[in-house]
This record gives sequence, structure tokens and C-alpha cells, in this order.
Amino acid sequence: MKKINKVLIPCAGLGTRFLPATKSLPKEMFPIIDTPTLQYIVDEANKSGIDEIGIIISQAKPMIQSHFTVNEELEQRLRALNKNEEADLIHSIAKMAKITFINQPEPKGLGHAILCAEEFINGEDFAIMLGDDLIMNFDDENNPVMKQLVSAYEKYDASVLGVQEVPLEDVSKYGIIKVNKEDGRYLEMSGMVEKPKKEVTPSRYAVLGRYVLKNEIFDYLRKVTPNKNGEIGLTEGIDLLLRDEKVYAYNFIGTRYDIGNKFGYVKATIDFALRRDDLKDKVKEYLKKIGY
Ligand code: UTP
Repeated sequence: MKKINKVLIPCAGLGTRFLPATKSLPKEMFPIIDTPTLQYIVDEANKSGIDEIGIIISQAKPMIQSHFTVNEELEQRLRALNKNEEADLIHSIAKMAKITFINQPEPKGLGHAILCAEEFINGEDFAIMLGDDLIMNFDDENNPVMKQLVSAYEKYDASVLGVQEVPLEDVSKYGIIKVNKEDGRYLEMSGMVEKPKKEVTPSRYAVLGRYVLKNEIFDYLRKVTPNKNGEIGLTEGIDLLLRDEKVYAYNFIGTRYDIGNKFGYVKATIDFALRRDDLKDKVKEYLKKIGY
């Protein structure tokens, strides 16, 4: 059976919804309490059995690269202060996975970001995890969303997109799938549209930042007509792919936070704080004190 060995994590967007923070700080590095969002995503790839990670970055924001690279000076400083646990912690981040950094010279859309990584993918089927979509399976941390999608890919030997139902009012914010056949959590797709109006949406199943794709997607991305801003969409590429071969969606188990959206970021911070033993009591007490 074919195995998914590689995942792409695109992190080269402009993050305009979160300016001014994203002027110099990529949103993928926003910390949820003390850990950058992207570190959780790399951990999800690890727990899903994917060995090689390609992080797509913009050279304008070098912070991502430094977070995942050994910093000997800082480690030595921490050890001199007898902070060995902290030194081990920062050392382990650089050893989490085999990471390759891929440059996207200009933010020309998600489809373009993926095309920039064609050489790294080298003919294999592969996964994509969006760097600002934090998805946690709190009830079973050893079965994260990407692992669920890899299993679905292995079942069908076809591309699989991670979806969940969203409220009708929100369909215009997402890529929405057209469903041909439903079999429990597995959905056979017949099309995909980007940000439809609620009056014409084909379903309420939104694609939420996790994909396993057949290598052929590159051929279809090259056929996508760029939009008026010169951007190449991944949704449009997938819609072309599924005219020629079967594509499935999987209604995954997990809670998703859109870290590129202010309210999504606030929700993640609150939920994670309320799950941490060192913080939950203090946070609850504080919320009570200010009237919640
Ligand atoms: P988004 O559309 O959420 O990111 O892309 P954006 O364009 O940065 O956000 P806004 O709308 O301006 O606030 C989803 C993911 O794809 C990456 C982003 O970094 C994000 O993690 N992306 C997007 C790229 O890597 N390159 C691009 O050209 C566009």
C-alpha cells in the first residue's frame, strides 16, 4: 500500500485579517498560551505518522525558520542558569521532524503555494495542513485529524478532504463541497465551490484546512486561471481534478480553531487555558470575578 510520507504546511500568506500583528509576525507563530500554533500542527503531523514536513514560508518573515532550528547560544545560556528543562524543551523543537523550508516568492494564493513545493513532493501523493487551522481531537490525542484523513486515503486510494458542517450563515466563508454519496463519515464528492452564497450553497460541509491529495493535483493547479488579484486557488484545482477522478471528503472528529480570525484565536486561547492544570482554576476564578 502507498504511504503518505510528506506534508506541506503553507505559511506564506499575508494574514491581512490580523494586521498590525502580522506585519512582522506570521499568524502561524501566534502562541496559544506558550506554544506557537505551528508547533501544534507539526506535532499533529508527527502523531499522524508523516515523517517529512515542507513548511512554505515567505522570506519576509524569517521567524518560522528560526523557531524550528537549533539555537545553541540560547540553550547554553539556559543551561548556565541551571534551566536544563527549558533548554531541553527548546532543543526538542528543532528535532521534532525532518523539516524543509520552501520559499513562496509572492503570496499568489494557496494553489500557487502548493505549486512552489512540487520539487519537494517529488511525484508522491501528499498531505496539506493549513498553518493557521488548529484542529484538536481532545478526546483522543493519538488519533488527530490528519491521521483520520490518511486512513480514509488508504481506504480509497484517492484524494480526501477534511470537512465539517458549518452553520448556513457561514458557508460564504469557506470552500464548500457538493456531495454525491454519503456513507457515515465518508462523503463522495461531485464538485467544490469557493465561498458560495447561502442561497445557492451545494451543502453545509466546509473544507477545514486538512487535505490528502493525489500527485496529479499539480497538473490541475497549472490549469487554474488566476483570479483578478493573480491568485491561484487550491479549491479551483481540486474542482478540476474531481472531473477526472474520484475525490472524497471525510467528516472528521475534532475541534477546529481558525487562528487567522480574531475570534477563532480568542476561542483557542480560552479553551486551551481551561484545559491546562496550571491555569484553569485561576482563569475560572478570574472570569467569575469580572462577572462571567
Ligand atoms: P488564508 O487565506 O487563511 O491566509 O490562507 P491569508 O491570505 O494569509 O489570510 P488573510 O485573508 O489575508 O487574513 C490559508 C493558509 O495558506 C497560507 C496562509 O499562510 C495560511 O496558513 N497561504 C495563503 C500561503 O502560504 N500562501 C498564499 O499565497 C496564501
